[in-house]
Amino acid sequence: MNKVHTGDCVELLKSVTSGSVHLVLSDIPYGISADDWDVLHNNTNSALLGSSPAQKKAGAVFKSRGKPINGWSEADRKIPKEYYDWCAKWAEDWFRVLKPGGSAIVFAGRRFSHRAVCALEDAGFSLKDVLAWIRPNAAHRAQRLSVVYDKRGDHENAESWKGWRVGNLRPLFEPVLWFTKPYPIGTTIADNALNHGVGGYNEDAFLKYEDSPDNILRSGFMKNEGGLHPTQKPVRLMQELIELTTQPGQLVLDPFSGSGSTLVAARNTGRQYLGMEMSEDYVRIAQQRLVDEMFPQEQFVEHRPKDTKEDVSQLRIVLTTE
Ligand SMILES: C[S@@+](CC[C@H](N)C(=O)[O-])C[C@H]1O[C@@H](n2cnc3c(N)ncnc32)[C@H](O)[C@@H]1O
Repeated sequence: MNKVHTGDCVELLKSVTSGSVHLVLSDIPYGISADDWDVLHNNTNSALLGSSPAQKKAGAVFKSRGKPINGWSEADRKIPKEYYDWCAKWAEDWFRVLKPGGSAIVFAGRRFSHRAVCALEDAGFSLKDVLAWIRPNAAHRAQRLSVVYDKRGDHENAESWKGWRVGNLRPLFEPVLWFTKPYPIGTTIADNALNHGVGGYNEDAFLKYEDSPDNILRSGFMKNEGGLHPTQKPVRLMQELIELTTQPGQLVLDPFSGSGSTLVAARNTGRQYLGMEMSEDYVRIAQQRLVDEMFPQEQFVEHRPKDTKEDVSQLRIVLTTE
């Protein structure tokens, strides 16, 4: 407890005591090939891996794994199922280690979160709600079709396709999946709160972070936070979810802890924590954050400052270009 362990969480989870965890809070890999640690499929098609002729020509503009898939090949179409299979590898142990009535709160990507839901449901969890984390400064990267045609010298089509883009609308929200482990048959949720210390949610604590008790989360990065992990989450956001579902002294588990944002949030709010991360570099960063008083609790207990600036460099960006 109160450590971050290096290794594959699928293995590490086996040694966690059943029914010992009050909350699993994790920003799991989204399976969108955002980075090497996020490639959870067997698809080696050249467009996806950044070696198509167009990508070579574009050079550094392309992140090597940033090319969206097109659904052309059977391998493309298998990716969602492979993501489900990957989630199923750890979902049963999450269920085993959690206390009855406890929550598992999961950040998952918009494209494959439905597969994470199915894997967790199949492991025994109930999906309680889907919250939305709003990121006011998400970058809009969809390419203009007129620009593509102009580059080809096809000015006639550039004119007639003016206003059209390829790609997605601005990715302003990320789904936050809120699961619960069912409490024992014959008891009530009120009994469960007394027996296992979990089951309800703390609205008063939540309102320290948000203006109203809605399922929209707006906490962003504080000044000078960020830059530690390509998909770093704000400590403030993790604190709000921890305080929503647990009490001081209870145990928070993050099996995909990255740079340790969940763990720092647990420490800041007086909870016990258990982190797992396969990259030694990120483990070192997390350990450093946990010994530093980089994000002292006092900074977060007040209402969100109105001038909070989001750190846009942390957004998951999928480049869309021809
Ligand atoms: C989405 S990131 C989490 C980032 C984190 N929220 C933060 O603020 O830094 C997911 C992390 O899971 C790690 N990871 C991926 N597969 C893993 C596995 N099987 N076991 C442990 N860690 C894993 C990756 O290295 C990555 O750092």
